[in-house]
Amino acid sequence: MSRFADRLLAWYVLNQRSLPWRGHRDPYTVWVSEIMLQQTRVDAVIPYFLRWMRRFPSIPSLARSSERDVLRHWEGLGYYARARNFRRAAKIVMREYGGVLPADIELLRGLPGIGRYTAGAIASIAFGLDEPALDANIRRVLARLFDVSVPARSPAGERILWELARKHLSKGHAADYNQAMMDLGATICLPAKPRCPECPVRMLCAARKLGLQEKRPVLTPKKAVPHHIYTAAVILRRRRVLLAKRPSSGLLGGMWEFPSGKVSRPSPKELAKVMRSLYHLDVTPGGPAGIVHHGYSHFTVDVHVFSCEASKVQQTPDLHWVSVDALDDVPMGWIDRRIARSLNDG
Ligand code: ADE
Repeated sequence: MSRFADRLLAWYVLNQRSLPWRGHRDPYTVWVSEIMLQQTRVDAVIPYFLRWMRRFPSIPSLARSSERDVLRHWEGLGYYARARNFRRAAKIVMREYGGVLPADIELLRGLPGIGRYTAGAIASIAFGLDEPALDANIRRVLARLFDVSVPARSPAGERILWELARKHLSKGHAADYNQAMMDLGATICLPAKPRCPECPVRMLCAARKLGLQEKRPVLTPKKAVPHHIYTAAVILRRRRVLLAKRPSSGLLGGMWEFPSGKVSRPSPKELAKVMRSLYHLDVTPGGPAGIVHHGYSHFTVDVHVFSCEASKVQQTPDLHWVSVDALDDVPMGWIDRRIARSLNDG
């Protein structure tokens, strides 16, 4: 073993984080944690992970579930395609692999929602295969250790970092090695103000030798975030409210929302126009019922909400009256949940 891996693994034995999915070699447990941890912080994931494992404790239970149930358990974690893909992947594993997650990096990558990182993480942590994994933490640790001056997210940067991850992997210890790198990145090799004096591999760190640790990894400038304005209708009738189902792919796919549409200037008149063109609904907007602001990863939105009356509502599978008392069981994004809660609170 290299001096680097030796030091890292010795540090990990004493300093690893205690996480509810650690210590399990059950591939499904590892799979759940890795899907939830994609683009989401550990402390946000923990309560979702615990609740998920109670509700969907195995691949067959997930494969048998409804999309609605799965989305409801994912609600609040964001990036809902992860939940839909996970359920689809569980069905594929039942059908094609007899309900057993394959211990093969290429077969793993063939499943919906499993990319290069997640396949490497599952292969190493669940199956002990000598596969690298490169997430944001490991990317930062490697970019500093080897003073990678190419932007980390550029194609060249990705190639260099994956090569470094593979080359320095401790053979036969990939599960601990990959997780030690993640923990080092999350607790010591922090994005701003890394805690170098506490780092077990500080004497091997090329960026630190040059005083460049806070300049690595080299980031690609972020694009400006666009802002959108929507209007939404709260159409209440006899303690039931009209909800629309979003298309099954794309942002918040398959989740429910108050009928809404994008406008350039929010007004009752614009809302009526949008309701007619998007939902064939004839609505008479009443008073404004509030503005909900939300930031997604790629844009921000203001949703101007109006209470409305509607005439001649035609229900369809994607446009439904739902009892106000049943709203908690309907999967919704953050904005619509806020609106729904305001109906029950006030
Ligand atoms: N981030 C993604 N996977 C992780 C794991 N297994 N442990 C800690 N952080 C992680």
